[in-house]
Amino acid sequence: MADVSKITVLGAGNIGGSLAQRLAEADVAHEVVLIDIIDGLPQGKALDIQESAPILGFSTRISGTTDLAAIRGSEIVIETAGIARKPGMSRSDLLGVNAKIIRTHAEAVKAHAPNSVVLVVSNPVDVMTHYFQDVSGQPAGRVFGESGTLDTARFRWFVAEALGVAPRDVTGFVLGTHGDTMVPILSLTSVSGVPLSRLLPAERLNAIVERTKKGGAEIVNLLKSGSAYYAPSASQAELVAAVARNEHRLLPITARLHGEFGEKEVTIGVPAVLGRNGVERIVEVEITPSERAAFADSVKAVRADLRVLAELP
Ligand code: LAC
Repeated sequence: MADVSKITVLGAGNIGGSLAQRLAEADVAHEVVLIDIIDGLPQGKALDIQESAPILGFSTRISGTTDLAAIRGSEIVIETAGIARKPGMSRSDLLGVNAKIIRTHAEAVKAHAPNSVVLVVSNPVDVMTHYFQDVSGQPAGRVFGESGTLDTARFRWFVAEALGVAPRDVTGFVLGTHGDTMVPILSLTSVSGVPLSRLLPAERLNAIVERTKKGGAEIVNLLKSGSAYYAPSASQAELVAAVARNEHRLLPITARLHGEFGEKEVTIGVPAVLGRNGVERIVEVEITPSERAAFADSVKAVRADLRVLAELP
C-alpha cells in the first residue's frame, strides 16, 4: 500500500534518477514523476525504472516529463536540480547557477503544489533550502534540506569500519552546514548506546571527523565528473519515507531556525523531528562548548553565502 499518492522529483540527473528508483522500489507513492529540462532524459529514466517493476514487484507508476506543471497535486517534491561540483570546487561555487534553477522550481511549486512538503538537496544546500522557502512562500517547516543524514551516514560508516561493527549500530549527528565547516557531534555519537569516546582513541576520532568533512569531495575527486549519488539518494529516500509515512523520525536535517540554537533567519543542519507536515520541531540538544563554537562558525559560513545570494543580479 502506497503512503502518498504523488511525489515529484525535480532533476533527472544521477541523484534524481537513483532517488526515483529508490522511491519506486520502496512503494511509497502511487505515482512518482521525474521532471528535467533535457527532453528524453526523464522519460527514458522513468521508463527504464518502470520496466523493473515486474521483477521487483513494486506498484508505483513512474513517468517523466519536461513540463513543470506536472508538479500539480504532488504531496512531496524533491529538488535535486542544478549542477554538481567538479574537482577543486566548493559547494558554494555552485550558488549563482543553481539559484536561478531553484527560483524557477520554487515558483512552479508555489503555482502548482503550494501545500506540498519540499525536500531540497541541490547545493549549496543550506542556502538553496532557505532560498526555495523564500520564493515558494510555504511555511518554513514544509521546506527542509538534506545534508545531515548524508554526512552522518558517511561518519557512521567510517566509525563502523574502524571498529568492525554493524554500520546500523552506529548512531550520531553531523550538524551545521553541508560544507567544510560541518560539525560531527562526537558527544552525541554512540555504538548501540556505548559512547564513541570509550571505543576509539582521540586521534582516530579526529581522523574520522576530518574525513567526514571532506566526504563529498573525496567522491568528487574519485569520480572526476559529477558528485556522489548512491549514499545521497539513500539518505533522501529515508527522509521522504519519514514524511510520507508520518514516522516522526529524529534526524539531522537542514531547517530554518527561529531562535533555536540562538540563531534566526538562517537555514542549517540541526536535529529535528520529521513527519507528514515536514519539520515538526527542532530539537535543541545540549552540545559541548567546543561543538557550539564550531556550530557558530558553520552558521557564519552559511550567512556569508546568504549575503552572496542577496547580491546576485
Ligand atoms: C555530497 C554532495 C552531493 O556531499 O553534496 O556528496
